[in-house]
Amino acid sequence: MGYCATRGGPSECLTAEACYEHLIIHVRDSLAFIRQSIGNFRQTGAILPSSGSLARAMVDAIGPIQTGDILVELGPGTGVFTRQIRKRFPDNPLIAVEFNEALAARLRHSQPDVHVVCGCASEIRRHVETLGLDPDRIGVVLSGLPLLSLPRPLCDAILAGLGQVVPIDRRYVQFTYSQRAWQKWHLAGFRRENPRRVWLNVPPASVLAFTRSDG
Ligand SMILES: C[S@@+](CC[C@H](N)C(=O)[O-])C[C@H]1O[C@@H](n2cnc3c(N)ncnc32)[C@H](O)[C@@H]1O
Repeated sequence: MGYCATRGGPSECLTAEACYEHLIIHVRDSLAFIRQSIGNFRQTGAILPSSGSLARAMVDAIGPIQTGDILVELGPGTGVFTRQIRKRFPDNPLIAVEFNEALAARLRHSQPDVHVVCGCASEIRRHVETLGLDPDRIGVVLSGLPLLSLPRPLCDAILAGLGQVVPIDRRYVQFTYSQRAWQKWHLAGFRRENPRRVWLNVPPASVLAFTRSDG
């Protein structure tokens, strides 16, 4: 098996055409992301979509998932994490909550088997209920949100919402470019696991996993 620069990991492309197709998708996604990032930088919080290496490290941190557990992704952007979650957990319901209308529409088109909600990450419970699913069945919340660059009241509302939906012993997984800034934050009711550094990303990032420890 070769190395795929587009995915940032082992190549699974069987043919050169498949590899080329991946490259085209990657370039198109990156251009769409950059377009949304210009003029919306505080909300987008990045210049490029995350790498395949970061996506795999995020999904590695999810922990055990049971049949029927609902997987929630916040801030999917162009869907780098979404595709990796789908690959690892093909049969679980997956809800992706994206605030940016253009990115949500794109993702809905490219991932028809995902419940893509165009809305705010602070209202997870409401989004799950609106889809007719049971919020008590949430198995993980994985976030690509730029929490450090969002307005503080919004950030507090998102974290408060997480406290309401992540069950005991389940996880909230977040990535950050500044592990240091996160040291100052205490998430009530969550235990912080050891972070994992991912160098193959622009810029390098850390995966933070928080396990719900009390009610
Ligand atoms: C840093 S980008 C990450 C995109 C993707 N997960 C990745 O890693 O490439 C952050 C994403 O969060 C979305 N976002 C920002 N605020 C949001 C909110 N309040 N609710 C839902 N999505 C939000 C942005 O539109 C953007 O797509």
